[in-house]
Amino acid sequence: MLDLAAQHAALQPALGEAISVVLREAEFINGPAVAAFAQELSAALGGPHVIPCANGTDALQLALMSLNLPPNAEIILPAFTYVATAEAAAVLGLRPMFVDVLPTTFCLDPVAVEAAITPRTGAVLAVHLFGQCADMEALMQLSTRRGIPLIEDNAQAIGAMYRFTDGAQAAAGTIGEVGTTSFFPAKNLGAFGDGGAVFTNDAARAAFLRQLANHGQTRKYHHQHIGLNSRLDTLQAALLRVKLPHLPAWTAARQRIADHYDAALGGISGLRIPYRDPQSSHVFHQYTLTLENAPSAMSCKNICASGACRAWCIIRCRCTCSPPMPTLAHGPGSFRCLRTCAAPCCHCPSTRC
Ligand SMILES: Cc1ncc(COP(=O)(O)O)c(C=O)c1O
Repeated sequence: MLDLAAQHAALQPALGEAISVVLREAEFINGPAVAAFAQELSAALGGPHVIPCANGTDALQLALMSLNLPPNAEIILPAFTYVATAEAAAVLGLRPMFVDVLPTTFCLDPVAVEAAITPRTGAVLAVHLFGQCADMEALMQLSTRRGIPLIEDNAQAIGAMYRFTDGAQAAAGTIGEVGTTSFFPAKNLGAFGDGGAVFTNDAARAAFLRQLANHGQTRKYHHQHIGLNSRLDTLQAALLRVKLPHLPAWTAARQRIADHYDAALGGISGLRIPYRDPQSSHVFHQYTLTLENAPSAMSCKNICASGACRAWCIIRCRCTCSPPMPTLAHGPGSFRCLRTCAAPCCHCPSTRC
């Protein structure tokens, strides 16, 4: 789906130099590149505090830990997502509460979120799936009105911009109480191994998150909180610093390719091209087609193999049906839109077609 070898070949001299510096300095944990990358990423996203960490799953766990929720607090999240979103809540003894997504954006349905709120709700966790923001206007209004913190899982939409109806704009991941991202190699900004980050606009929460990501230390060997060992390696930070300035151009290329797919596939009956929400830019982590009335993934594969593009067919993780979440089993028909979105989805390559 993403030709990383070609991407890296173009950056080879700068990547090689970045590796040499890290080897020479030998500060492999929390070396200077980590703080420098955090600062540069913050500048690129409009100035939030950036707390680098080991991966996007830890970023979600840290975000939830920073809210100090009571055991068994309910975390409302979309039924259509990558498993890590629910896993991060479950591993902390919190209860993932799955709600339906919108058939247009594949992201949380704010009406379903409101209906799922109970006195035990601890947070709402929105996922900007495939590269486009959830309905942040409605979700932020809900969060403020009900006093429930909103977390953004921005593993798939780094660089996307959201525009509110009053004209204010903000980068995906920087709008809610806490945002998270992943630098998994295949992400739009990918490292050379695992990596992640947490975002917040609140200085006190940022300080707490930094401690949580480093064994709960307030300073060396002073462990005030139960934390994690979740640090972005210096080497990954150094390499990400080389890639970060290219993110806008890579995003623009993804958008051009998506336009090309739209033009080629837009008129095909039974095939729905990605919806473009006027309030969010789309960074096309995945260009996702939906087969209307498709009975199975196989027919999706066949349609794609037959023509306009090389595509990869995938049945997305439907966490609600996963064995590790048995206590949360939902009955058939619980998620009307999930059924229509998840089964017949296929994704096209975002860097070449
Ligand atoms: C939506 C979403 N959330 C969280 C993650 C977890 O990120 P990581 O693989 O870096 O732990 C991913 C990664 O695929 C993801 O797509």
